[in-house]
Amino acid sequence: MTSTVNPDHDTSGAAETETDRPDVLLDVRGVKVHFPIRKGIIFDKVIGHVYAVDGVDLQIRRGETYGLVGESGCGKSTLGRAILNLEPLTEGSVRFDGVDIASLKGEELRRRRQDLQMVFQDPMSSLDPRQSVESLLLESMKAHDLVEDGATASQRLRELLAAVGLPPAALKKYPHEFSGGQRQRIGIARALSVNPKLIVADEPVSALDVSVQAQVINLLEDLQKEFGLTYLVVAHDLAVVRHISDRVGVMYLGALAEEAPADDLYARPLHPYTRALLSAVPVPDPVVEDQRERILLTGDLPSPANPPSGCRFHTRCPWRQPTRCDTERPALRVVNIDGVPEDHRVACHWAEQIASGELRPHEVEAVAVEQTALIDEGASPIMGPTSIGEIG
Ligand SMILES: Nc1ncnc2c1ncn2[C@@H]1O[C@H](COP(=O)(O)OP(=O)(O)O)[C@@H](O)[C@H]1O
Ligand code: SF4
Ligand SMILES: [Mg+2]
Repeated sequence: MTSTVNPDHDTSGAAETETDRPDVLLDVRGVKVHFPIRKGIIFDKVIGHVYAVDGVDLQIRRGETYGLVGESGCGKSTLGRAILNLEPLTEGSVRFDGVDIASLKGEELRRRRQDLQMVFQDPMSSLDPRQSVESLLLESMKAHDLVEDGATASQRLRELLAAVGLPPAALKKYPHEFSGGQRQRIGIARALSVNPKLIVADEPVSALDVSVQAQVINLLEDLQKEFGLTYLVVAHDLAVVRHISDRVGVMYLGALAEEAPADDLYARPLHPYTRALLSAVPVPDPVVEDQRERILLTGDLPSPANPPSGCRFHTRCPWRQPTRCDTERPALRVVNIDGVPEDHRVACHWAEQIASGELRPHEVEAVAVEQTALIDEGASPIMGPTSIGEIG
């Protein structure tokens, strides 16, 4: 049953965050991004909201790669855009290098934008097809006054191309003359061209052939070492962020369900949602593959315009309990489980009892999900882990 409790009044999702630390480059606190749903041609009436991001706390340390995963439509891109100040915050704050990003305007904002760059999912639509690679790269450098004279610029362009593994001849070509993987290299070169500190890579390899995905991920890793970059890598596929990430955050319906150092998360997922996602990833060893736990998720992802009350996951959770789950929103918290580090946090009331086996999974009745026509139009196609209901 989907409830209509207004998530605006529900602040219990706020996490216990670390205090200000100098090694934190990006500090996201209590961030909400709600989009109004309007109706009416003459009277523009707001009839509801899409709670795309609904209470996210996360910190990214300097030089770290933070992987953010979750089903399509759970708010990853909106959060990425909010971090870059491309989307206004409904609530909360984003501090970058100690500066409140939302408070910046005009020239100050323009200068700060140099430090925060984005790499997009579809390089074809993010690169102007009428501009040569040279002109694309020069444009972003000029926007930040990084072009002193022709000779220095030309040297810089060659360095950038070499860094992303493209020959100098690529400068005179246009985006359509490249393969998908090469175009993503150009997108990465453009982000690098302004010497950023943080790169938000939004599904950087989702549009690429599997064979090319690893090359682009490896390139991102190499560039991180070479230029001391910090990354937020967004993906709907847990396998993509596994190797590149130091820490991983799992997002469900606008909030983090679990966050942990990557190795811990994959070795010991504690949130029922993460367990279900990981149980859907095939294991190469056929013996392990036959024996491993499979958690079937029933029901569709609820609409972010009408998110379930209490724990957002309760409509699909095989461990759902009659108390607390549908009334009290769990905070992202440190759990009291032997061997689980403090930086492995889980937003589940029953994480300890589930981990110990005291609580067992049960069948979940499929719940009809109300969709709003407007939301359906805006939603991206459901991909990746959403298909977990189909396995088994
Ligand atoms: N500008 C917008 N106006 C209204 N709804 C939006 C807008 N942008 C995104 N949404 C909605 O917010 C939700 C989260 O979207 P998004 O952040 O793109 O998710 P993800 O990147 O995880 O697939 C979706 O339901 C989407 O339709
Ligand atoms: S709080 Fe309840 S519904 Fe939510 S994940 Fe934990 S057991 Fe499942
Ligand atoms: Mg997205």
